[in-house]
Amino acid sequence: MSLQQPKVTVIGAGNVGATTAQRIAEKDIADVVLIDIVAGLATGKALDLSEAAPVEVHDRFIIGGNDYALSKDSDVIVITSGIARKPGMSRDDLLKTNAEIVSSVAKESLKHSPNAIFVVVSNPLDVMTHLTRKVTGLPANRVLGMAGVLDSARMRFFIAEALNVSVQDVLAFVLGGHGDSMVPLARCSSVAGIPITDLLPADKIEEINTRTRNGGIEIVNHLQTGSAFYAPASSSAEMVEAIVKDRKRVLPSCVQLNGEYGLKDIYVGVPVKIGSKGVEQILEIKLTDAEKAALHKSAEDVKINVEKLESMGF
Ligand code: NAI
Ligand code: 2OP
Repeated sequence: MSLQQPKVTVIGAGNVGATTAQRIAEKDIADVVLIDIVAGLATGKALDLSEAAPVEVHDRFIIGGNDYALSKDSDVIVITSGIARKPGMSRDDLLKTNAEIVSSVAKESLKHSPNAIFVVVSNPLDVMTHLTRKVTGLPANRVLGMAGVLDSARMRFFIAEALNVSVQDVLAFVLGGHGDSMVPLARCSSVAGIPITDLLPADKIEEINTRTRNGGIEIVNHLQTGSAFYAPASSSAEMVEAIVKDRKRVLPSCVQLNGEYGLKDIYVGVPVKIGSKGVEQILEIKLTDAEKAALHKSAEDVKINVEKLESMGF
């Protein structure tokens, strides 16, 4: 069996990784390689997904294992390896363990796919994306992180639920780091083009903002044994599709800022045009003073963790 381009490798065959592989294959986006340190997990899940293909009706190949040679010449590498949050843990508690995992898998992946674009999912997201760029030495357009699509999807769902309308007509934007200080932008959120500020009272919007910020921990508290993975996988697959199909999608993504929004050398979530080159344009929208202050506070929180990471020798 030989895989065809576009070829996407997902590192980590756990909840997010395996579900991302499933979405990519079943949405007919690309052939997929699943890599995990636990070889049987990746091999078994890849085989199981392949056996679903006749029923799901797609011809995408999915293979798995722990040998990076399988990933040779991937167009996109999605990094989901690491440990996930348990109740009582913040995303930052994951810092050191996931830094070791992410830096080793990023370096190994690059050896086999020197032209790939890296989409980072492992937490703490903004710091892991920064680390991936640092250890790979790649230009910033080829390393981006998934969080804004997920946080915005959660906000879209909460808005649709509050107004009893189809999610299809709801757009929402969340900026900043993937942490407690993320910035839901109600002003740029709409239902069929109508700003939600015209449709919902301020206290309901604030309730939605708070629930969006707590979207990850709400799921952790229900599951007790891990964190969300269905919506994270859908969000990761959407970014992969934008890259491999050169869709020029505008998606909130974690990217390295170089002066945009008054921020420099920091990875944080902003609206980005995504295509075959990865980050093709950072869209700089005019923010109110309060929104700008909130974005800067969120970036400051990311910076603190980057410094913590550097003090650990990364
Ligand atoms: P999981 O525990 O189900 O899967 C993680 C997988 O990584 C495991 O199968 C494990 O064997 C594998 N792994 C560990 N070390 C490895 C290595 N050195 N090489 C290859 N594979 C290795 O966790 P889950 O739920 O899939 O979450 C994965 C990561 O994604 C976590 O860090 C989590 O916090 C993060 N996450 C991020 C989101 C975001 O919005 N950016 C959303 C949801 C999860
Ligand atoms: C989430 O937001 C845990 O970051 C992950 O669900």
